Amino acid sequence: MARFDGKTVIITGAGSGLGQATAVRLAQEGANLVLVDMSEEGLAQTKQQIAEAGGTGGVEVVTANVTKSEDVQRYADVAVETFGSIDGFFNNAGIEGKQNLTEDFGDDEFAKVVAVNLTGVFAGMAAVLKQMRKQGSGSIVNTASVGGIRGVGNQSGYAASKHGVVGLTRNSAREYGEHGISINAIAPGAIMTAMVEGSLRQLGGENWEAAGKEFVSVNPMKRFGQPEEVAALVAFLLSDDSGFINGTVIPIDGGQHAMY
Ligand SMILES: NC(=O)c1ccc[n+]([C@@H]2O[C@H](COP(=O)([O-])OP(=O)(O)OC[C@H]3O[C@@H](n4cnc5c(N)ncnc54)[C@H](O)[C@@H]3O)[C@@H](O)[C@H]2O)c1
Repeated sequence: MARFDGKTVIITGAGSGLGQATAVRLAQEGANLVLVDMSEEGLAQTKQQIAEAGGTGGVEVVTANVTKSEDVQRYADVAVETFGSIDGFFNNAGIEGKQNLTEDFGDDEFAKVVAVNLTGVFAGMAAVLKQMRKQGSGSIVNTASVGGIRGVGNQSGYAASKHGVVGLTRNSAREYGEHGISINAIAPGAIMTAMVEGSLRQLGGENWEAAGKEFVSVNPMKRFGQPEEVAALVAFLLSDDSGFINGTVIPIDGGQHAMY
């Protein structure tokens, strides 16, 4: 029997990068999936990849904006109405925002990044925890970042929101542990996804690949992480294999956090 047979997992940001790779991984392990993203095209691509990977569970796609509370409630409702429960939640949708010094960062940019990365994560937890508490079981993985546990620079909105995700994780883990629910966060370093390509293009323009090589040259492992490596960690944290891990933040960054 596969680890996720008969289990239902919601993934936000499922149309690209870490969410997409995790969707494929969980599908291969038997999960029913509710895939949430703003990008209809990204969701269709993920569904296609799941079919090609031989996923055996059900797949529902929900085009939604995690900053809108009615959209958040809708994806939680779709999971319960379609599959009867929410066993896992990868609360992952996020944006990086423009790189800038604090004084130049801008109120609008700050508010935009916080709305997706922090308020979206909070709203998702609130909607899903209501259901998990009724069930008396469930597991949540929130996506923080190395920028949520260390000072990276030029990322006021991102840093504030990702440190906030760590705080929300610890706070809610204390509240819900006694209800059989685990809540953890991951803190990825540089993982090669569309988001990282975007920020490398901001740094290096046409020479973004060279900028990328230089960027990872100081990482202990001297390479980018792959989305599949993050998917393996998320699958572990959402599975029964990690039953007593709660309220923690796990870096997955080739050792970057140890360098600061
Ligand atoms: N890639 C990295 O190196 C890295 C490192 C640390 C943390 N992270 C975090 O991992 C998460 C996933 O990032 P990724 O690298 O896979 O990025 P990505 O850009 O490849 O994927 C993010 C997905 O989220 C979706 N999304 C964005 N805003 C949304 C909204 N308001 N509502 C619904 N969906 C929305 C996008 O459409 C996209 O499909 C983010 O929270 C990011 O901050 C990534």
